[in-house]
Amino acid sequence: MSKNKLRILVSGSTGQLGQELNHIATQYPSFTFDLKNRKALDLSSEKSIKKALSAPYDYFINAGAYTAVDKAENDKEAAFQINAKALDQIGKYAQPSTRIIHISTDYVYNSDPRRPLLESDQTKARGVYAQSKLEGENYLLKRRPDAIVLRTSWVYSSFGNNFVKTMLRLGQERDELSIVADQYGTPTYARDIATTIMQMIRNLDTDTYTQSPKSGLYNYANIGLTNWADFAKAIFKMKGISCHIKETTTKAYNAPAPRPLWSMMSKEKIQRDFHIKIPYWQKSLQSCLLELDK
Ligand SMILES: NC(=O)c1ccc[n+]([C@@H]2O[C@H](COP(=O)([O-])OP(=O)(O)OC[C@H]3O[C@@H](n4cnc5c(N)ncnc54)[C@H](OP(=O)(O)O)[C@@H]3O)[C@@H](O)[C@H]2O)c1
Repeated sequence: MSKNKLRILVSGSTGQLGQELNHIATQYPSFTFDLKNRKALDLSSEKSIKKALSAPYDYFINAGAYTAVDKAENDKEAAFQINAKALDQIGKYAQPSTRIIHISTDYVYNSDPRRPLLESDQTKARGVYAQSKLEGENYLLKRRPDAIVLRTSWVYSSFGNNFVKTMLRLGQERDELSIVADQYGTPTYARDIATTIMQMIRNLDTDTYTQSPKSGLYNYANIGLTNWADFAKAIFKMKGISCHIKETTTKAYNAPAPRPLWSMMSKEKIQRDFHIKIPYWQKSLQSCLLELDK
């Protein structure tokens, strides 16, 4: 590791966000990225966490997580180890000088105020995945109040598995698809999350406009509001796919894990504290589809 470069450790290098961070790393020559896969930094092993975090990194981006929302319902122990207990251990073993940026989820809110959700809103996590992510946030912020917890939603990327890639595949194979139309939220391109994290890192200690401490909870998603059926329709429209979308309900779809019906988050806090510009979800979707065409 070069001495004068700032060092960033990333967990979950094989995930959507991990791969996007790897993709944009060359745009940040003053940073050294140490991207670790599950084998090199196993969030289910205290020993592995302790070892990885013993080095003096300037930043740790925790992009690794147990993300199989439905599977988690029958795999509670693993989900809580990776999404919750690991955060207690990260808080315990990270060097005091390492700034921690942890990724969390809109699923922790699960209320329906029909207005953008604020970081200060009450949490009501339902289901194993959501509850494990909420517990992880609490563990981390208890040990390290200086950490950043970035809550995001409906993540997709040209890397990994996600709704956009599933729709592109199924849209070619089938004439009609039933998609839930009563869950509202905002799709978020993982490349925008990666870029935002880097902007946050650059602005963490430069308190230009505000006196508020840059730590704690921050919402981040693309701008706008949609539901899954309209999201699928937008994907098909942009790609000229003629598959018909039949709108269905969360109740009829009956997924094993509960999903929030309202996930639109306010981005005012992150915009105010970090002066970031957030793209509209349709614009970011277009960028991702172009990336997939390359
Ligand atoms: N995807 C979404 O829609 C969504 C929505 C809101 C918030 N988030 C949050 O955003 C973050 C990034 O999500 P993502 O979509 O990039 O996830 P992802 O594509 O599912 O990737 C998850 C990553 O975590 C790794 N991982 C799993 N178990 C691990 C363990 N025991 N130790 C270390 N790494 C482990 C995976 O490794 P393997 O490749 O080896 O499995 C993979 O690299 C997560 O915190 C997630 O909770 C995601």
